[in-house]
Amino acid sequence: MEEGYEIYGDEAYEEEYEPVAWHYDSIDEVPYNIRKYFHQRYNLFEKYDDGILLTDDAWFGVTPENVAKIIATHVGKAAGSEKTTIIDAFAGVGGNAIAFALSGRWERVFAIEKDPETLKCAKHNAEIYGVANKIWWIQGDCLEIIPKRFPGMKEAVVFASPPWGGVSYRHQPVFDLEIMQPYGLKELYRALTKASKDLVLYLPRTSDLNQIAKYAPDGVKTMVAHYCLRGASKALCVYYGDFGSIP
Ligand SMILES: C[S@@+](CC[C@H](N)C(=O)[O-])C[C@H]1O[C@@H](n2cnc3c(N)ncnc32)[C@H](O)[C@@H]1O
Repeated sequence: MEEGYEIYGDEAYEEEYEPVAWHYDSIDEVPYNIRKYFHQRYNLFEKYDDGILLTDDAWFGVTPENVAKIIATHVGKAAGSEKTTIIDAFAGVGGNAIAFALSGRWERVFAIEKDPETLKCAKHNAEIYGVANKIWWIQGDCLEIIPKRFPGMKEAVVFASPPWGGVSYRHQPVFDLEIMQPYGLKELYRALTKASKDLVLYLPRTSDLNQIAKYAPDGVKTMVAHYCLRGASKALCVYYGDFGSIP
């Protein structure tokens, strides 16, 4: 060991957070900052009790099952019939990828997730819903994988629910998408449209519409739809590209 280099027992581990997949059975096991989300566990996954796994981070970002289902219906109906493949670029623990697979609309569903433990949860959760074999799982960085592995895929739609940089968006009347962390709108739009101009982005409900409009192709109507739970908007989706109207 180098002189002057010390490890202070377990403290060395507290600095670096390693995501771990858990299934919490009772509220007593749940860390305080997640308890609010644990109360909503059946909104997140109706089959929670069948052994759904989440990392502690995933509780904040997973798309609730009913919202994921309605988005899957909308994307499926609004996409042209030549679109047979959907790529979920930020698959997380599988909320959206499972809904896309369950919809039966797509010949191929790809799910990309950077974090191996989170991807493990997604595969496991898809097994619970009986669709793990209908999804192609890819572990890695979608901003690298999409331009390299899926360039110019005319038959594809890309769906992306990127991280929003924590929960600070809730306190901002208008959310600045260019400084969203760790990826701003420009970087996301550039990389993800390398696969297909048909891109659906799942973004904070207060996202700046003027920033969204900057990437709307000229002469094409770009839809923005709010998705609501119990009378309040949960998030919005931007439908960039050649989509028909949503039902
Ligand atoms: C908001 S969550 C997605 C939630 C997902 N829609 C669900 O319902 O479970 C964002 C996810 O993107 C993953 N991620 C972050 N950067 C990534 C990247 N460059 N490529 C792929 N996945 C990434 C994070 O690990 C996280 O799981």
